[in-house]
Amino acid sequence: MLARHPAVQGAVAAVRDDPPGRRTLVAYAVPAPGAAPPDAAALKDHMRAALPDYMVPAHVAVLDAFPLTANGKVDRARLPPPGSTAAADGAPRSAPAARGDAPGPAARIAALAAEVLGLPSVEPAANLFELGASSVDMVRLANRIAEAFGVQLGIEAIYGTPTPAGLAAACAGADGPAADAPHRPGGASARPAPLLDPAEREAFKAARPGRRAVAPDAPAVPLDPAAAAVDEGRAMARATHRTFAPGPVPAAALAGLLATLRERSLPTGPKYLYPSANGLYPVEVCVACAPGRVAGVAAGTYHYDPAGHRLVVLSAGAEVPAEAHDPFVNRPVFERSAFSLFLVARTSALEPLYGREGFRLAALEAGHIGQLLMTAAPQVSLGLCPIGYAEVRTLRPVLALEEDHELLYGFVGGGLPDDAGPPPDTEEGEI
Ligand SMILES: Cc1cc2nc3c(=O)[nH]c(=O)nc-3n(C[C@H](O)[C@H](O)[C@H](O)COP(=O)(O)O)c2cc1C
Repeated sequence: MLARHPAVQGAVAAVRDDPPGRRTLVAYAVPAPGAAPPDAAALKDHMRAALPDYMVPAHVAVLDAFPLTANGKVDRARLPPPGSTAAADGAPRSAPAARGDAPGPAARIAALAAEVLGLPSVEPAANLFELGASSVDMVRLANRIAEAFGVQLGIEAIYGTPTPAGLAAACAGADGPAADAPHRPGGASARPAPLLDPAEREAFKAARPGRRAVAPDAPAVPLDPAAAAVDEGRAMARATHRTFAPGPVPAAALAGLLATLRERSLPTGPKYLYPSANGLYPVEVCVACAPGRVAGVAAGTYHYDPAGHRLVVLSAGAEVPAEAHDPFVNRPVFERSAFSLFLVARTSALEPLYGREGFRLAALEAGHIGQLLMTAAPQVSLGLCPIGYAEVRTLRPVLALEEDHELLYGFVGGGLPDDAGPPPDTEEGEI
């Protein structure tokens, strides 16, 4: 398949096991005589067009020539590992840094990534997930970057730009020492590194660190245990769902869910079921329906118009790109879902009154909206999973977001599966 590309003379594929336990499918290509060396990403696109995703190699390396055995066959043992820039003869393909030149931040991060992934080298432009990095590898790398640069990168940088060059750019843009700052282990501005060990993470969670420690005999006013303002059954039906019925959900269920956000009209003015600072209501809901998954609603993205209680088409047929979600926790949930809801704030509707504080107020409003949606969902036989982080750059075009739109929060949802037992016990992320 790869060998049929016009700029490719020959191609081989190999399953690599370096470091041991990280099996990766790698394709190697040699350019056709006289042709410019093809771009590895373009070769991947070429394969994607004809092969199912699982058959597309995780990594494509373009070599000057294949290493050959004494009898002229491709010497697979001497094919360079993924991410390495080594050409077939073992010589580096890219020019080495001039003697005495300090490597730039991208090269330093590439070297850290190579250490973390157990690879001989990593290209600054290499996508670390495609090199087989797991979420724990990425946390480990983020911690190494924090040690080296004094900048603790957040989940949005790690999943949004998973290349050494992208992470270097994120460091440069982050608060804290510049990415080209000298090595400063445990520098004053370094935030504590996230825990890595799964047992330590569980123990941290089990200690319930979010709760204030109170002595059992602390002076306190006992409250009537029978007093309850909420309908316990309804309140307890709210749950995070991460699996959904495979079939389409009725449009009426989605309409019922969104009706909780509908604008009501009172003699005193418009009224919503949730509060908004100063009654500004700067948070809007974008809805994305997956193809064939909401009966009677075409695939595409929509703006929920709370005054007209209708879905206004943003982009007919557009689909949320799976890459908007982290590959480990949320992407599989998204792939099972029928629809997505994204809560976005229009910052220009807040800043003139609240300055930068406006963003915090919008996030609080999104929390109120989220609670309404999650409480309503089981009443219309829908399940929702909150999405704390999605990559906004990939979402901007599909949701027709404007410059002053900020993504605050999201949900993916679908019909409750028939055997709706307890949702799988998944964490919301490794980071
Ligand atoms: C702000 C916020 C972000 C969340 N992000 C995610 C997420 O990205 N993925 C996920 O699976 N769950 C996410 N959750 C769901 C929590 O993991 C879940 O609420 C928690 O485990 C309690 O379970 P329950 O909602 O079923 O009571 C998020 C929850 C909140 C409030």
